[in-house]
Amino acid sequence: MALRIVATNPDPSLVTLLPWDTPLEEWTGSFMVPLPRGISRHIVRFVRLGTHVYAVKETREPIAFGEYRLLRDLRRLKAPAVEPVGVVTGRQTRTGDTIEPCLVTRHLGSSMPYREMFSRGVRADTLPRLVDALVVLLTRLHLAGFFWGDCSLSNTLFRRSAGEFAAYLVDAETGELHPDLSDGQRAYDHDTAKGNLFGEMLDLQAGGFMDRELDPIPIVEGLLERYDRLWSELTGVEDFTTDEMWRIQMRIERLNDLGFDVDELDIVTDWDGATARIQPKVVDPGHHNRRLQSLTGLDVEENQARRLLNDLDAYAAANELQNEEPALVAHRWLTEVFEPVTRMAPPDRRSPVDAAEIFHEILEHRWYLSEQAGEEVDTFEAARDYFRKELRVEPLEVGSAR
Ligand SMILES: Nc1ncnc2c1ncn2[C@@H]1O[C@H](COP(=O)(O)OP(=O)(O)OP(=O)(O)O)[C@@H](O)[C@H]1O
Ligand SMILES: [Mg+2]
Repeated sequence: MALRIVATNPDPSLVTLLPWDTPLEEWTGSFMVPLPRGISRHIVRFVRLGTHVYAVKETREPIAFGEYRLLRDLRRLKAPAVEPVGVVTGRQTRTGDTIEPCLVTRHLGSSMPYREMFSRGVRADTLPRLVDALVVLLTRLHLAGFFWGDCSLSNTLFRRSAGEFAAYLVDAETGELHPDLSDGQRAYDHDTAKGNLFGEMLDLQAGGFMDRELDPIPIVEGLLERYDRLWSELTGVEDFTTDEMWRIQMRIERLNDLGFDVDELDIVTDWDGATARIQPKVVDPGHHNRRLQSLTGLDVEENQARRLLNDLDAYAAANELQNEEPALVAHRWLTEVFEPVTRMAPPDRRSPVDAAEIFHEILEHRWYLSEQAGEEVDTFEAARDYFRKELRVEPLEVGSAR
């Protein structure tokens, strides 16, 4: 049987450099990278080829292909999920024994499984923030017509995003894509999410990672409440009289605040024009990300983008640039503030997402220093202090004072 690789954009070294004739569990070599991974039934390993890191999961053929196709569909729909690379089938040992196929995905950079976070010690409010991120993920998947079937913290990866978290789906094995989801399908996902989350919290408590006094039930119930609130804001019908048409703009602004753009809004007025009914039909996540990207080219997490846009606004106000062309102001801010500050970071912390997170932490640090000093502290001064005291590294490059 021949080794066969189905891949979107095949990296030749994937075919030539990896020991596909050896069961994944026995892989050794300099290409292996010991990154943290969550609990799973299948064997998962990480490998580095050139500058890319991949996750390799050994599984049965229908599962590998099913997951690969679904992850491709999710990518097309711009849903937050790991990026599929390919499926390797036809594996055999040198003595001719068949070995299970592998699904290869791109390792999601700057991400962590939730258990890893807890084992490093986390702040008390981390769990509700992880649950919040999970709610946003589930809502976005449902909007895209994706039924997950096994929503859990273990099947999710988390990235820090300016004091919050951004969640990505990592395990699509039980998923199905539909044009729209029924209420029953969504309810099924809520039930599995609640059950899984409850079990995961008991497990954290048993492992001593979570305070035993903390009651899992309100956190689990909170998941559904938050989901319902977000879902109804994103999809719900609103009725009002036509002299309250400003409510259309308010609804759009509320959705923008939640990080969504309205691509299509259905507005129906009755015959005598006295009442109106609106309902968002197509909403597109990533409102702040898109705005920041169009102004600066930076592609970062939604909440990070919101934070950077706030700093950009503050910069414009402090320098009396509010009436200037936004793209020019953004360029000045990027080259005079953001880039010089984030270039002080060690080279392995300079990916856009890492840089944005560091910038956010520096802003927090500046706030703290300013409060202590009783006056506004300069961003560069705060940055130097942050690198030395918080990251315990010498800032690499010191930019000009703001
Ligand atoms: N692309 C990736 N980037 C980062 N981590 C990954 C990636 N793919 C897998 N992992 C890690 O491997 C773990 C297991 O993956 P996954 O959940 O797909 O396995 P599974 O055996 O199908 O799980 P289950 O037991 O739920 O069926 C994940 O929790 C994650 O930590
Ligand atoms: Mg899993």
